[in-house]
Amino acid sequence: MTATVRPSEPMNVIEPHEWRHGTVVAGVKWKNPVGTASGTFQLDACGDYYDVTQMGAICTKGVSPVPWEGNPGPRIAESPAGMVNSVGLQNPGVDHYLADELPKLKELGALVITNVAGHSDEDYAEVTAKLADSDADMLEINVSCPNVSHGGMSVGTDPATLSRLIGRLRKMTDKPMIVKLSPNVTDIVTIAHAAVDAGADALSLINTLVGMRIDIDTGKPIMANRTGGVSGPAVLPIGLGFVWRVRQAIPDIPIIGIGGIDSGEKALEYLYAGANAVEVGAAALTDPTAPMRVARELDDLLDSRPDLAAKLAQGKSW
Ligand SMILES: Cc1cc2nc3c(=O)[nH]c(=O)nc-3n(C[C@H](O)[C@H](O)[C@H](O)COP(=O)(O)O)c2cc1C
Repeated sequence: MTATVRPSEPMNVIEPHEWRHGTVVAGVKWKNPVGTASGTFQLDACGDYYDVTQMGAICTKGVSPVPWEGNPGPRIAESPAGMVNSVGLQNPGVDHYLADELPKLKELGALVITNVAGHSDEDYAEVTAKLADSDADMLEINVSCPNVSHGGMSVGTDPATLSRLIGRLRKMTDKPMIVKLSPNVTDIVTIAHAAVDAGADALSLINTLVGMRIDIDTGKPIMANRTGGVSGPAVLPIGLGFVWRVRQAIPDIPIIGIGGIDSGEKALEYLYAGANAVEVGAAALTDPTAPMRVARELDDLLDSRPDLAAKLAQGKSW
């Protein structure tokens, strides 16, 4: 990471906090509007830094039908104001998730969004079927990962393919279903409509942008996968622009804003752009306390914005 990323600030985030401003996303009440972003939270790594039950929501790493090893290394490159990753959705698979991470998170009392990954419609369907009767509070369907050779972003950048998949998953579960969208498209509104018309209860955006870094000594890409996904402060204005465009086009759909959030002020920008909630990603990789710090800063900022706070609390969109 470069020095442009906000440095970690020592803070006792374990200390209890009385949340004053909650939100509602697709009928689910969050105690504050801030969640962790998929792939940047791990209970073992983050649980020591803050009480996970105090987050608005914990969104897990993408879960696939069988264990995935992810891409070969190097899988991370620094970039100005952010990072590029090509982790490739490494995870131990849905059965392990159901036996281990989910019960641990639910036992603690966290509100859990399970991020669903797949290489094919069958993969997504298999994971969704297994999660349908689980304790997960919400599902987030990742149709926007740029780091897998098939599935992922290839599904979320074509309206017909997306519509077919979401329509199929909709029939399999009553759980609130969030569809996570890619910024690697020219017309986000068409994609958003396809997801909503097929049965999405909410949208989350943005996932990472396709990018790369080159090692000038070898003249070759730094990452073994060559390209990866860009995230961090550099993508903030892009995420805001995408959220704003979707909100203008679809006034009623709950939106979770993601991209470049590392402070309460930036989270607030997303709420003004039309988001009902936000998720904090790359910032947590340099400062594990970032999601909780952002939540507390936002709680303070909402004190002087009663109209916005009231809309959030009622799950209203603008
Ligand atoms: C290391 C890493 C792993 C990620 N893994 C996932 C994932 O498994 N599923 C997913 O939907 N998004 C994944 N993302 C994307 C983030 O959830 C988020 O959408 C993106 O990084 C933009 O937010 P940020 O700028 O706050 O990081 C990952 C991001 C990073 C940096």
